Amino acid sequence: MPDEQPLSDSIYGIDRWSKGLVTVLPNGDVALCDPANAQTAPISLPGILADLQQRGIASPLVLRVKSFLEDQIAHLNTAFAEAIDRTGYKAPYRGVFPIKVNQQAQVVDRIVAFGRQFDYGLEAGSKPELVIALAHDLSKDALIVCNGVKDEEFVRLAILSLQIGFNTVIVLESPKEAEIVIQVAQELGIDPMLGVRVKLTNQIGGKWQSSSGDRSAFGMNTDQLMRVVDRLRGAGLLHCLTLQHSHLGSQVPDVNDVRRAVTEACRYYTELTREGVPLTHLDLGGGLGVDYTGEKRAAENSINYDVAEYCSNIVETVGYAMDEAQVAHPVLVTESGRAVSATSSMLVFDVLESTLYDAPDAPDVEPEDHHLMSDLAAVSGYLVPARVQECWNDARFYRDELRALFRRGYIDLRQMARAERIYLNLMARIKDIVRASEHTSDLDDELKKIADVYHCNFSLFQSLPDVWAIDQLHPIVPLQMLNEQPDRRAVLSDITCDSDGKMDKFILADEIAPSLPVHSLPEDRPYYLGVFFVGAYQETLGDLHNLFGDTNVVTIDLRPDGGFDLLHEQEGDTIAEVLSYVEYDPADCLAAFRKMVDEAISRGRVKSSDRKTMIAAYRDSMNGYTYFE
Ligand SMILES: Cc1ncc(COP(=O)(O)O)c(C=O)c1O
Repeated sequence: MPDEQPLSDSIYGIDRWSKGLVTVLPNGDVALCDPANAQTAPISLPGILADLQQRGIASPLVLRVKSFLEDQIAHLNTAFAEAIDRTGYKAPYRGVFPIKVNQQAQVVDRIVAFGRQFDYGLEAGSKPELVIALAHDLSKDALIVCNGVKDEEFVRLAILSLQIGFNTVIVLESPKEAEIVIQVAQELGIDPMLGVRVKLTNQIGGKWQSSSGDRSAFGMNTDQLMRVVDRLRGAGLLHCLTLQHSHLGSQVPDVNDVRRAVTEACRYYTELTREGVPLTHLDLGGGLGVDYTGEKRAAENSINYDVAEYCSNIVETVGYAMDEAQVAHPVLVTESGRAVSATSSMLVFDVLESTLYDAPDAPDVEPEDHHLMSDLAAVSGYLVPARVQECWNDARFYRDELRALFRRGYIDLRQMARAERIYLNLMARIKDIVRASEHTSDLDDELKKIADVYHCNFSLFQSLPDVWAIDQLHPIVPLQMLNEQPDRRAVLSDITCDSDGKMDKFILADEIAPSLPVHSLPEDRPYYLGVFFVGAYQETLGDLHNLFGDTNVVTIDLRPDGGFDLLHEQEGDTIAEVLSYVEYDPADCLAAFRKMVDEAISRGRVKSSDRKTMIAAYRDSMNGYTYFE
């Protein structure tokens, strides 16, 4: 008999999406595996959380794992190197990490430190990001690629940095930007390193389809491109133009889209070379996707290729196009952000309480109750597997009729409460019957939708903004009890008081489901949920909805002995901090509160002896975490 699949795989599909980074221990704990050291035993995630809790670091928190990040950098760089070796491609790969994808100092510092061995560089899309890039000790061959709209100050800093030894490439986004660069370069008397951003016409599938191709906001069309080339030639700076850049898109689902776009980029490259532009670098931007769902198909949250295939396709396509046009192979540059950093961190939070969509018992119908109450209660009498659909229909009908009666004033609040509880008890029994049934039915799907609500200690808007904004899916699983059959299904609601602050799409083994299988909340310990692969964009794009600030962030290193080292702790925002972000002065707030307390004492509404307690409560709140403590 084949081994039975563990629940973690058969329900949550962990084996499908985990990429070998996450597994489940026999005791049901989710555990982290060290990709850099296969000998290391997986480390229990609830164990790590308990340890952090003892050190005073509470959830919600973002947990970054050093080797998860390093593994991805190594994977991308070695996959390019292998494809280059295998195909006899005659130039190296020089990747850059786009700082916008995760600007946190801990992350960028680590990427630079580990990436040095691969001459890995940085992409800066703004002045502040260039300032970050220039504070890092990159290898002598690493690039800094400057994209985005640039003013004179940006351009001056980029050009001056060449004198320190940085390879800072200014990618020209428009003819106007070329004028700024020419003027600053001439004024400084320094040759800049230049690139041109070419707008490709190929449309790329996926979430960003409508902003790719002609609709892309960035890059020059052919007419603008030729004007810039002529202008640089006229200004005696054409010899500085060595890089061609096109951003293929983000999270490209279909690898054949990559091939098509790269082929088009090569056409520009070979034609520009023919025009006398001394190009040496071809930058293909971002786009390498992450298989969030593990489906391995060209879909919004999945991809139909892996890193090795992406790299091979680029190397082969460029090599072939250049050979055909008899142009020297360019140094290959990509700006993969998501694929490098997404898997490196996870968001962990505790469930605060639940609103259950069923009840273990039902009250008796009282003599004075409306006759529809008896009809509702009578459903219980014919609730057998063969008639479960009929019972579900009847229960909903009577419940809805009773609600209508309540709205019109024919039944009172107590009767309505009894009716709701009878209904919820019927729900519990219907769910039991459906769960025990071997056949799936439409009712099964219906019941998944009317799940419990688990109220969780996090803010969707702060920690998972793409889930809210663009329907991003991340794998989500309970972090414990995965050796026990989950007995409930829930949607997750966050701690903001916004009805959008909820998650109701979940990656499961065989479907994207409207509710997550979960366990009844244990009474004696926290019940944690983990949201995986949140290291790209989420930390950066999050906002202060309801003034929930940054969560605690910890970076850990997995130790071969099954323990972990705490490499860095970044405390989450205090209330005083988030107030100052929205232009309140916490000291002014405290002074205003103190004044009101004193006035209340003068009017005899507050006792003088309570003044200290009241002010201390206000001050403590100011200094506290914005989340449920
Ligand atoms: C110019 C540029 N480069 C790189 C990236 C990173 O893309 P990805 O995270 O898909 O690799 C982006 C993001 O959209 C971008 O705009």
